[in-house]
Amino acid sequence: MELSLSNLPNQQNRVLSGMRPTGALHLGHYHGVLKNWVKLQHEYECYFFVADWHALTTHYDDVAVLGDSVWDMVIDWLAVGVNPGSACLFLQSQVPEHAELHLLLSMITPLGWLERVPTYKDQQEKLKEKDLATYGFLGYPLLQSADILVYKAGMVPVGEDQVAHVEMTREVARRFNYIYGREIGYEDKALAAIKKMGKKNAKLYTGLRKKFQEKGDEEAIATARALLDSQQNITLSDKERLYGYLEGGGRVILPEPEVLLTRAAKMPGLDGQKMSKSYHNTIALRETPAEVAKKLKTMPTDPARVRRNDPGDPAKCPVWQFHLVYSDDETKNWVVEGCKTAGIGCVDCKAPVIDAILEELKPIQERAREYEEDKAMVRNIIHEGNEKARDVARQTLIEVRSAMGLEY
Ligand code: TRP
Ligand code: SF4
Repeated sequence: MELSLSNLPNQQNRVLSGMRPTGALHLGHYHGVLKNWVKLQHEYECYFFVADWHALTTHYDDVAVLGDSVWDMVIDWLAVGVNPGSACLFLQSQVPEHAELHLLLSMITPLGWLERVPTYKDQQEKLKEKDLATYGFLGYPLLQSADILVYKAGMVPVGEDQVAHVEMTREVARRFNYIYGREIGYEDKALAAIKKMGKKNAKLYTGLRKKFQEKGDEEAIATARALLDSQQNITLSDKERLYGYLEGGGRVILPEPEVLLTRAAKMPGLDGQKMSKSYHNTIALRETPAEVAKKLKTMPTDPARVRRNDPGDPAKCPVWQFHLVYSDDETKNWVVEGCKTAGIGCVDCKAPVIDAILEELKPIQERAREYEEDKAMVRNIIHEGNEKARDVARQTLIEVRSAMGLEY
């Protein structure tokens, strides 16, 4: 990846996402997040990172969650097929530019924006045993904004619960560009930059800008942005000016990211609730086949089926949720029919699910073993990712410092 390409404004093709290090991952992570990452890495320029600072905002007194957890999580990423050749994998705390940008953004972030993010109160309620009335926890979403903006990421794949954080990131970026993109003589500089594109492109740009400003034509602005992207003759600063000039704001130094909502089917846990470590209902990706089979064999079914002859209702059974994820129509029909008529027993019903999960986990576990046996390789992958990420992050900070007058 060339630096020049990676630092174009409005990097719509760049994807960034982070995950807090929670140790070994489970099927919920796989179906809910990682399968999507594996797909995205072939379609976009992806940055995936371990959000260890984010973990500290809630686990500051329990730093044992770091260390091994970080490496276990990375091993699981690699094991499911997140490919360091396609995506940049790195560790947040090894790219200190995240922290610097967080600090600089904190200067312009109104307290109210942070206080009204829903996760702030929700998590305080949920994690009552922890004192989360800290400065760091309040700043959680802003740190996330810095994570995203430091790479000028165009897309952020997250679940529903993180949408508010990306929304806030957009507001922070807008405010930043508004305050620091309005340099002295902005309009004159923009007009001069237009001229530099050459007569034909200048005319095209001006026409598209007019179409957008007068009629709100979204296609016109998209075309204009593509036109800017293709310009070889103008500087990065001029590009930023012209991006901003399209919308009538200042220079776009930090582009606003879009949410890429991951609408994964919710992976059920062993008890029918969402699979989550805090509910103790998970199947870990590296659980042994014997453990997996045991967990499924002992998982609850429709309570109405006390005896083999009692008919049941799949709608009331957590095993059915697994069939929805793993079984084809034929198997599903077999379950519904067999359950309602007591034609099959719960042990029979669980068998195809056990088989499907074991088959899914087999290649993952084989790959995980290779990485477990070569931790140096895992460290190397992350080390290289850190370097690559830093190159991009450093460049953004040069621009941010300059825009904020920190240029001596
Ligand atoms: N807050 C996210 C979560 O809890 C993790 C995260 C940190 C993140 N920084 C990010 C996700 C940046 C996307 C982009 O899941
Ligand atoms: Fe659940 Fe299957 Fe038993 Fe019906 S037969 S109660 S769906 S496990």
